[in-house]
This record gives sequence, structure tokens and C-alpha cells, in this order.
Amino acid sequence: MRTTYSWRLVRLLTVSAVLVLSAQLLVSSLSKHLPKPSPLTVVEDRLLSPETYQYILNQPAVCRDRSPFLFFMVPVAPEEAAAREAIRNTWGAPGQDTLTLFYMGLVGGGQVSSIQGKLEDESRKHADIIQMNFQDSYQNLTIKIMMMMNWLATYCPNASYVMKVDADIFVNVFYLISWLRGSARQGFITGSVISDGRPRRDSNSKWYLSEEEYPEDSFPPYVSGAGYVFSADLAGRISWASRFVRMVSMEDVYVGLCLRVLGVRPVYSLGLLTLRNLFEIRNLEYNRCTFAKLIIVNGFKPSKLLHVWQDFSKGHSSC
Ligand SMILES: *[C@@H]1O[C@H](CO)[C@@H](O)[C@H](O)[C@H]1NC(C)=O
Ligand SMILES: *[C@@H]1O[C@H](CO)[C@@H](O)[C@H](O)[C@H]1NC(C)=O
Repeated sequence: MRTTYSWRLVRLLTVSAVLVLSAQLLVSSLSKHLPKPSPLTVVEDRLLSPETYQYILNQPAVCRDRSPFLFFMVPVAPEEAAAREAIRNTWGAPGQDTLTLFYMGLVGGGQVSSIQGKLEDESRKHADIIQMNFQDSYQNLTIKIMMMMNWLATYCPNASYVMKVDADIFVNVFYLISWLRGSARQGFITGSVISDGRPRRDSNSKWYLSEEEYPEDSFPPYVSGAGYVFSADLAGRISWASRFVRMVSMEDVYVGLCLRVLGVRPVYSLGLLTLRNLFEIRNLEYNRCTFAKLIIVNGFKPSKLLHVWQDFSKGHSSC
């Protein structure tokens, strides 16, 4: 009886070892078939290279005396002052573990100097604005994200985790911090993973990509740009990898292409009990205890964020 049992155990262990080994062999043979990165042409490289642009506003010393556990990088347009103010008064409020900075380019179109003047006042008051001299536009979002990665690697290399999060997102910072305490420290990126993305070839689409710009017919796995979290070591590595990846204007796809160069796979995050995607990219009706078990929820105007936060910040722990 006993011997049969231990024999079974030995067999089980052997079979598992063989399975693990073959899975590893499979993974390593797959990674050999990754497209070889080739350096970009000078023109392609210039568009994304941090050396091409200069800082108009910067905060080079914010991390000099501290190493934030969680660093929020928020891309935002210069004129979106209300969104910044709402974030400073909700999840982005300076805390013991967190630091929040806003990233932008230059205002295009009319009223340029009045918006820029207000922005500089705001920057003196809050010391949380980083601005570079590229034109701030939807199509230039990838330039902004790469500027953020380079900024972080340069001025805040000792942060533990970074969250890239859009300005219209609800972030459950309480849950996020406790959940991150048990996460991997390096080579880690998570969010709402899209693993079956394909380029749109219809020239009327907002996300149109020509075959010339992107010849492959699918995207590598990437995390939705609304909000994703990564270990801070990846900022410098993604920045480095961008030297081999041609610009596409969808910033989240672009980061996915850089991750492929690095051989880093984004991981999907499910709630333990709820089995729900913790990075909810749909818009959900506010419910305190539903939100308490999620990390992000999409689609918040500044006034709604402020309103919901009043209830959530006081009541989330009672769920
Ligand atoms: C992106 O920024 C560059 C640098 O400022 C500028 O030359 C270009 O026109 C911008 N593109 C768009 C579509 O805004
Ligand atoms: C980062 O941490 C290292 C080691 O703890 C330290 O030597 C260095 O001064 C820190 N750098 C910054 C910018 O805080």
C-alpha cells in the first residue's frame, strides 16, 4: 500500500519535471524566432529620441531624497488643468508611498501664451509638471510616453513601481499599493492585456496603420494604455528598446513592441475571489464595494472623480 503510494508520487514528480522542462525548451525555442531588432534610420530615431527635445518645465529633484514605492506618471494635455486638480485631490494626492507627476508637450493652435502662462503658475504652485517642446497632440502620444520612460530612468531610478495612467481614470490606490507589495520586483508589467490585437487597415479608422508603417498582421501582447503598472527597472529598458522599434502612434501598442524586443510578457491580473480583471477598462456605475476590489475604472470626468472619491476614500475599508 505504502510503496504503491510513494511509487505514484515518484511518477507524478517525474512527469511534472518533464513537463516543466519541455515547457522551458518550448519557450526558449520560441524566443529564438523573435524578429531580430534592427536599428532605426536617423530620421525615425530622431522623432522619439529624448535628445531631440528640451525641457520647458522640469522637476529634476523630486526623487533626490526619496524613493517612492509607487510613482504615477500621468500624460495630460496642457489645457486640462481641471483634470490635474481632481487627481491632486484624489488618488494622486502626495502620500508617504506615492508621487504623482504630469507630463505634456507644447500647446498647439490659438491662445498659446495664455495657456502656457497659466501652466507656469500652476507649476510654481504644485511643482508636479514636466513639459517638453514637442507638439502636444493625440498622434504624438508615443513621443510623450517615451519621454516619460526616459524621465523616470533619469530622475527617479529608485522608485519601486510605476503606474502610467490616463487623466480620466479612477485609481484604487489603497488596493493597488497592498497588492503590489507581493508582486515581482523586476521585469514585471501588468494591466488589461490585449493579446489578439491587429492593425486596422481601413484608412478611415482612428487607429489606421498602413502596411508600410507596420507590415506584420498582428500585434504582440500589450497592455491597454488607460492604466498599467510596471516595476521601475522597465522604464530604462523600454527606453533603450525604443531605439529598435519604429514609431506607431498607438502608444500602448508601441510599448508592447518594445517589450517584445526585451522578451518581457505583460501579465494579466485577476482578482483572487472575484476572478475579475483588476484593470477594468470599461466604464462602470459607481458602487463602493465593487470598486474596492478593482484597481482602475475608466471614464471619469474631474467632477465625477471628486464626487466618487469623497465616498470611496472614507468607505472602502468597510467592504
Ligand atoms: C509631433 O511633434 C513634432 C515635434 O514637435 C511635430 O513636428 C509634429 O508636427 C507633431 N505631430 C503631430 C501630428 O502633432
Ligand atoms: C538610489 O539608491 C542607491 C542605493 O540605495 C543610492 O546609492 C542612490 O544614491 C539612490 N539614487 C537616488 C537618485 O536616490
